[in-house]
Amino acid sequence: MSEIFPTPPSTDAETPMEKDPLDHEVCLCFHVSIRKMQHFIEREKPTVPSQLSQCLDAGTGCRWCVPFLCKMHRQWKAGEAMDLPVSPEEYAERRGAYRRAGVKNDRLDSIPPLAD
Ligand code: FES
Repeated sequence: MSEIFPTPPSTDAETPMEKDPLDHEVCLCFHVSIRKMQHFIEREKPTVPSQLSQCLDAGTGCRWCVPFLCKMHRQWKAGEAMDLPVSPEEYAERRGAYRRAGVKNDRLDSIPPLAD
């Protein structure tokens, strides 16, 4: 029987598969990954950050991710790679704390105001 249905290769629990950084979600409410946002930005060429909400409603839920969406827009305009400043786990943890407290109190949101 095992010859007909060979045992699939085991996954190594010690080395879990790393997620592609572009698959990390920038908007956790609407599951918008960095990759989706990158493609949206490159296709639509938004002139202001608020237009990023047209990408699967990003930023219109709890609004915690709005500073990060603004940062991504700023990075794109500067020709820089779009990324998040923290790990996905920390990002989700901080957003959870924000939602529990109901108060935005995160040093990561102290991103300089937009120049335009
Ligand atoms: S994480 Fe984006 S709106 Fe809540």
